[in-house]
Amino acid sequence: MPTTQRDLSSRLTSGGLSNSLSLLDTVSFSQDDCLRLFAKADSLSELETATGRFQEKPSRRRVLAFVFFEPSTRTRMSFQMAAERLGYKVNPLEVAQSSLSKGESLVDTVLNVVAMKPDGLIIRYGHDLELGTLLPKLSLPVISAGTGMIAHPTQALLDAYTIQKQMAGVKGRRVLIVGDVRHSRVARSNFDILLKLGAEIGICGPREFMPAEPRANIRVFTSLDEACEWCDVYMGLRVQLERHQGRVDLTDYTNRYGLNKARLDILKQEAIILHPGPINYGTEFVPEVAHDPRNRVLDQVSNGVLIRGAVLARTFEGGR
Ligand code: CP
Repeated sequence: MPTTQRDLSSRLTSGGLSNSLSLLDTVSFSQDDCLRLFAKADSLSELETATGRFQEKPSRRRVLAFVFFEPSTRTRMSFQMAAERLGYKVNPLEVAQSSLSKGESLVDTVLNVVAMKPDGLIIRYGHDLELGTLLPKLSLPVISAGTGMIAHPTQALLDAYTIQKQMAGVKGRRVLIVGDVRHSRVARSNFDILLKLGAEIGICGPREFMPAEPRANIRVFTSLDEACEWCDVYMGLRVQLERHQGRVDLTDYTNRYGLNKARLDILKQEAIILHPGPINYGTEFVPEVAHDPRNRVLDQVSNGVLIRGAVLARTFEGGR
């Protein structure tokens, strides 16, 4: 049964999270927390340019366990790159070769990995793992690399950081999120972070992809053309084909909700185009979007390494 962000947050709180360093959602993340993290990401970028590393003198060598129960390219690799630039060792569980195939449960898998005493756990999981009930047994920082349809905190942080860098601030920027908002952990976490930073948010997509009860401060567009005229930031979301297979008419979807050549002409010249990836070119975006000068998708990916480095430093180096 899918869980709402409110449910998750209350369970995390009532579950007695054993330390304040875990990052499982952005609900308790303040505007100041975001800005401090962005400043840290800036300083990591400068250090990397000068030294190729994120720390001049690495502290005690940390060992991080990576447990990804769902596939990932960007999040996993960028956490790994960031960890290695901080001088940490990464120990990934190769899920396909793990004892899950012998029937071991997700909970036992996590408990066994944690029993090996890594310094931290980076985890991607779905609604089939009740991490909230497990947390009191875990005495190490746990960082979400994506939680079902609930939260993707570091994605939202890197999206906001990209907007800040590209547009000299997030406050007052009009961010349009297009597509399967209802089932998107990226959209949920972005609502939280972008509103805290003072952005205006609009959403557009098929009715069945819109939140059942949209927040009062989020504008719902029925016309994507009108929304394109309005926005400063166009954020496409992936159509989750594995979830909707056979139930979405992709030609109709692309005509009504795809970023096509006509809509590229409507977008402001100074607008930027984002997408958390992976992109289904030909569905969310026509292939021309890849070459549009407003496309900042690969900047998002580069910024992901900096933001995840900043999150790891905040967690394991006291933000140093
Ligand atoms: N944006 C994102 O979470 O991408 P991955 O699934 O490749 O990590």
